[in-house]
Amino acid sequence: MKNSNSLTDAETRSRHLRITEPSAWVKRFAPLIPENGAVLDLAAGGGRHSHHLQRLGHAVTAIDRDISGLGSLDGAEVIEADLEAEPAPFADGGALHGRTFGGICVINYLHRPLMHDLVGALAPGGVLIYETFARGNEAFVRPRNPDHLLKSGELLELVQDRLQVIAYEHGIDEAAEIPGVKERICAVNDLGVSDRDDGEPASHPVPPGD
Ligand SMILES: C[S@@+](CC[C@H](N)C(=O)[O-])C[C@H]1O[C@@H](n2cnc3c(N)ncnc32)[C@H](O)[C@@H]1O
Repeated sequence: MKNSNSLTDAETRSRHLRITEPSAWVKRFAPLIPENGAVLDLAAGGGRHSHHLQRLGHAVTAIDRDISGLGSLDGAEVIEADLEAEPAPFADGGALHGRTFGGICVINYLHRPLMHDLVGALAPGGVLIYETFARGNEAFVRPRNPDHLLKSGELLELVQDRLQVIAYEHGIDEAAEIPGVKERICAVNDLGVSDRDDGEPASHPVPPGD
């Protein structure tokens, strides 16, 4: 169906799939994922992040409802599943039920009912790398539907008291592969694991941005 921006869902997807370079946010923070940790690339698309994570030595699980772009992912676990259908992916009978990951990467995809389960699927020390479009992006090309746009601070709220935030951004990014308003987070599942008297979690290196 054509939308107000006259791009169909399929046209939008193929526009995204033409981008083969991983997002700068993933490249920057993927090194924080524990070595040899299994990694989930949720709504993997053409697999640009799966390939990158494989090159870093991770066992990758790539999931998408359309896996036609994931044929060249040798050695990865590729799952074809509708992430928005019942049973939900992490629920009983779902494609990812009972699974945990050392890294979870979600780029340019948002389905709110899944978000809490994603945090729950991080192994101890696991790293969440999430980046997608946010409110304000209506002024740019798709997505413009509020269901597909993060609210201000929404990723911070998601991880509050659950993960240690390493980095967060929200704003206009003209230099992104698809310019627009983006919200991004990198957070680690190590709150409450501490060697310190004050209970603060361990510090992590913050890799420099470009
Ligand atoms: C904009 S693309 C992003 C792809 C990839 N994460 C990237 O950054 O290159 C969004 C992806 O979400 C997938 N997707 C959308 N709705 C989905 C659903 N209900 N279940 C599974 N995948 C879905 C699409 O097939 C598409 O590959």
